[in-house]
Amino acid sequence: MRLTILGGGGFRVPLVYQALLGDRGTGRITSVALFDTDRTRLTSIAAVLRQQAAGVADAPVVTETTDLDEALRGADFVFSAIRVGGLEGRTIDERVALDLGVLGQETVGAGGIAYGLRTVPVAVGIAQRIAAVAPEAWVINFTNPAGMVTEAMIPYLGDRVIGICDSPSGLGRRAALALGVDPSTAFYDYAGLNHLGWLRGLRSGGVDRLPALLESSDALSSFEEGRLFGADWLRSLGAIPNEYLHYYYFARETLAAVQAVQQTRGKFLLEQQSAFYAETVRHPERALELWQKTRAERESTYMVESREVADAGERDERDMAAGGYEQVALSLMRAIAHNERASLILNVRNRGVLHHLDDDAVVEIPCTVDANGALPVTVSQLTDHQAGLICSVKAVERSTIEAAVGGSRDAALRAFAWHPLIDSVTAAHKLLDEYAARLPELSAFRV
Ligand code: G6P
Ligand code: MN
Repeated sequence: MRLTILGGGGFRVPLVYQALLGDRGTGRITSVALFDTDRTRLTSIAAVLRQQAAGVADAPVVTETTDLDEALRGADFVFSAIRVGGLEGRTIDERVALDLGVLGQETVGAGGIAYGLRTVPVAVGIAQRIAAVAPEAWVINFTNPAGMVTEAMIPYLGDRVIGICDSPSGLGRRAALALGVDPSTAFYDYAGLNHLGWLRGLRSGGVDRLPALLESSDALSSFEEGRLFGADWLRSLGAIPNEYLHYYYFARETLAAVQAVQQTRGKFLLEQQSAFYAETVRHPERALELWQKTRAERESTYMVESREVADAGERDERDMAAGGYEQVALSLMRAIAHNERASLILNVRNRGVLHHLDDDAVVEIPCTVDANGALPVTVSQLTDHQAGLICSVKAVERSTIEAAVGGSRDAALRAFAWHPLIDSVTAAHKLLDEYAARLPELSAFRV
């Protein structure tokens, strides 16, 4: 089996490779093609992978290329984990928004729209190449904003493209462990869009255990989302939101906290990762060690401002160590390749499951996966509150896609103005103008 990783020089690629090294079953991935537009990053990450593979018998063979078609030829699976505009682009996404008084974050609010505007055209181009060169391949989309990007690729790849994120399964696992339930045996009644969903039930042994979790203050304070949102608010909601909903439910506090720090998340990662790649060029023999150190720092500071707002303390060791990101991807590949039925929360077409959304809307929802791909399963319907937020943000995603694909300035403006975290049309105008001025990929939106 051959796996192609687009964004193969990306910092989290070694996580995926580590998971592949641990997979000893028949029909496992035997060759990995790394594609990236940046040769230096590719060389650094390939050095990390070589050191990971040292001493492992039958480790997947790794090749590197900057030629997309060459990378795609013969692929059984394609992981797309690209970052258009790099971390430099991410810092502009954040800075422009914060300077105009709204949240600047990778996927939520204005920052997510700017990121979507420059990523969607590239993702569509990739989807077209996959359809032409590797039409049989399954495409696993990690690229953020993951729901929007997956929806943009579907017209070219149909249901062979599946979006993934580790946040929902991480939430499910943490909630199950807080109840003393084995996470692999539970059913998670989770639904929403990527980075905008709720866990509304957790069934184990035929019983919904979520009410018991919501009752227990001790159990709630034992995990991240319980501490972020607080027991009282979770009881009022009757559900546990995805961690990214903290930016909505505590909008003014999280905005103030993110504005108060000198360095945005993107800026921190830009400096941290630039140092890692530069250092690895100088000391390739230390690539793995440098990568491990950098990764530990990244994990421990994830969503640090939100945790400060909620006084939620340090991150849990288990969350930093647990292989959420790479395990979701590996489980999905194995279920498809081996026709081994698995239940995973994925970004797929709604197909009538959630009544408030149309069939083609990409939603994040539990799916049954086997050799035929991922099929969403029945979950409880959205409440009016959940549906209201989801439909608003789906309209934002679709306007962003329309603007990115067709170049419509009106559609781009609507995307900013309709977002629940952007409070004025005037601000939307300013955001669009400033992003267009500062991001070369958005120069077509300049007036
Ligand atoms: C979570 C999110 C991802 C995001 C990642 C890293 O896993 O679900 O979408 O890419 O965190 O976030 P960071 O701020 O470290 O880049
Ligand atoms: Mn995610």
